Amino acid sequence: MQVTIDGPAGVGKTSVGRQVAKGFSLLFIQSGQLYRAMAYAHREGLPDESIELAVGDQGGTYLTIDGVDAEAKLTSEEIGDLASQMAQDQEVRDRVNGVIVDLARDRDVLVEGRDIGTVVLPNADLKVFLTASPRERAIRRHKQLGGERTVEEIEEEIAHRDDRDKNREIAPLKPAVDAVIIDTTSLAENEVVKEISDLIRERIDSG
Ligand code: DC
Repeated sequence: MQVTIDGPAGVGKTSVGRQVAKGFSLLFIQSGQLYRAMAYAHREGLPDESIELAVGDQGGTYLTIDGVDAEAKLTSEEIGDLASQMAQDQEVRDRVNGVIVDLARDRDVLVEGRDIGTVVLPNADLKVFLTASPRERAIRRHKQLGGERTVEEIEEEIAHRDDRDKNREIAPLKPAVDAVIIDTTSLAENEVVKEISDLIRERIDSG
């Protein structure tokens, strides 16, 4: 079973994806983490080879840079923006896609990102595209990040990043033609989890 969840920044792909993956014992892969790791390594002058994404014993992945757990270093909007800039480069995309395709081979996976349903796993069993209003996404990111920045500032930053991700030439952010589009603006997280879980059950039942 391969499930993809694509969508813009702050829409809830990670929190929803993690829960859905757990419910169906799918390996959860955040492609954005890999772009963020490449951005971080680039900024710190470390080679790409210092990045490792491994499958953990709890059924999730864990990412290390230079052998050290890196996830906490990657959450800032600054790294997100640098990742979005680097993600315009075909070579960078090829590296990330190679890691994902290798992990997804012979495994049941849920992969989230921007181009997973359109480019990386075009034959996935279920493709979901999540949307939400820019204001709602900024509110969600604000809750997640904490810090001193206002919702308005975050809204501006993610609008800028989405604009770049949507309008780049290679693998832009857009729904696959066969994706199920869910507008989550007025849905609670557990409602989105339920909607996607129902879709997966339908796919399983129809064999
Ligand atoms: O999902 P995220 O916010 O962690 O992603 C950070 C950036 O990485 C995003 O703005 C664009 C890039 N990205 C991408 O180009 N393709 C993906 N499949 C995932 C992320």
